[in-house]
Amino acid sequence: MSSLPILVSGGAGYIGSHAAFALKQEGYEPVVIDNLSTGNAWAASFGAFEEGDIGDADFVRDVCDRYKPAAAMHFAAFIEVGESVQNPAKYFDNNRDKAARFFKTLNGCGVRKIVFSSTAAVYGEVKNPAPISELQLTRPINPYGQSKLEAEAYLRMMDAAGTRSASLRYFNVAGAASAQAQIGEAHMPESHLIPRLILPLIQTPPDILAALGLANGFTIYGNDYPTPDGTAIRDYIHVMDLAAAHIRALDYLLKGGETSVFNLGSGKGFSVAEIVEAARRVLNKPTFAPPAAPRRDGDPAILIASSEKAAKILGWKPTHSLTDIIRDAVNWHCSPRYRDAIQAKLGKTGRRAV
Ligand SMILES: NC(=O)c1ccc[n+]([C@@H]2O[C@H](COP(=O)([O-])OP(=O)(O)OC[C@H]3O[C@@H](n4cnc5c(N)ncnc54)[C@H](O)[C@@H]3O)[C@@H](O)[C@H]2O)c1
Repeated sequence: MSSLPILVSGGAGYIGSHAAFALKQEGYEPVVIDNLSTGNAWAASFGAFEEGDIGDADFVRDVCDRYKPAAAMHFAAFIEVGESVQNPAKYFDNNRDKAARFFKTLNGCGVRKIVFSSTAAVYGEVKNPAPISELQLTRPINPYGQSKLEAEAYLRMMDAAGTRSASLRYFNVAGAASAQAQIGEAHMPESHLIPRLILPLIQTPPDILAALGLANGFTIYGNDYPTPDGTAIRDYIHVMDLAAAHIRALDYLLKGGETSVFNLGSGKGFSVAEIVEAARRVLNKPTFAPPAAPRRDGDPAILIASSEKAAKILGWKPTHSLTDIIRDAVNWHCSPRYRDAIQAKLGKTGRRAV
C-alpha cells in the first residue's frame, strides 16, 4: 500500500472518477482536477478536488506545489465523435493543445510519469476482423480520434524531456463501480450502446429519454454486416477493469517503465444482437426486440482489441463478464443520483424534449 498523491485530470467524469475510486482503494491519494465542463462535482469524491482547467498553467502549478503528485492520470477531454465533426476546433483545442500545455506544465513541476486516456478511435476504420494490436496503423476518421492521436504523439515526444508515459487505447467502456461508490456514466448526450439500450427498459423518466433521443426506444444501427448475425461486433470492457489497468500502468511507470502504448479491451467481441440478448436476460424482458435502422457511416463490422501486450507487460487481465457490465450499468442508471444528474444537466442547458 502506498499513500502517494496522484493527480487525476477529468476525475469528475465517468472513467476518471472510477480511476480515482480505484486509486483510493489501493491506498493512493487521488487529487482530482476538473473544470466541470461535462463532469459532476459529486463524482470527485475520492480524495482532494480542485476545480480548474488543465490548460491553466498557473492553476496546475499551484495544485502541484500544494500536493506534490508523484504522477498523473490524464482523462480530461471532450469525447463526442459527432460533435467533433461539427466543431473540430473545440476538440483540437481541448484534447490536443490544452493537453500538450498540461504535459509541459507537469514536466516543469517535476511530474514526469503520465498515464494517458487514449482511444481505439485512433485506429479508424479497420477492415481486417483480427484482434487489433498496438502495431496496427493509426488512421483516425474523425477529429476526436485525430485530436487524441496528436496528444499521444506530443506526450511521446516529451520522453526526450524526461516524461515517461503509458498511453492506454480503450475500446468500448461500460458498467459502473459497485453501488456504494455511487458513481457511473452520466453523459449528456449519451452515444454509448449499453446505456442507450437499457435506459428505455428501466422506467427512465420520459424527459430524460426524450433529451437523449430515446423517446422511441433503442435502435440497432445496421443488421446487414458481414458478421454471423449481421450486427456489428465490438469489444466491451468493464470500467473497473479499466481502472485496474490504470493502476497497473501507474505502477509500471513508478517502477521505471519505458514510454509505451497499450490496447485495453477484453479480447472478446460481442455483436449488438448478443448485447441485446444479454440485456433481455439481465432485465428479464424475453420479448424485447429493438428495431434495426441503416448502418452509420464509418462504423466498421468488427473491432476487437488484442490486449496481449497489457497482459504481458502490465500483468493485467479483465475479470468482469458481459453480464457484470450490464447488471452494474442497470443498477447505476436506475439510481436517483444518475437521474438527478441528468435532470440537472437538462436544467443547465435548457435542453427540451426532442
Ligand atoms: N467513455 C469511453 O467509452 C471512452 C473510450 C475511449 C477513450 N475515452 C477517453 O477517456 C477519457 C475520459 O472519458 P469519459 O467518458 O470519462 O468522459 P467524461 O466527459 O465523462 O469526463 C471527462 C472529464 O474531463 C473534464 N474536462 C474536460 N476538459 C477539461 C479541461 N480542459 N480541464 C479540466 N477538466 C476538463 C470534464 O469536466 C469531465 O469531468 C477521455 O479522455 C476519452 O477520450 C473514453
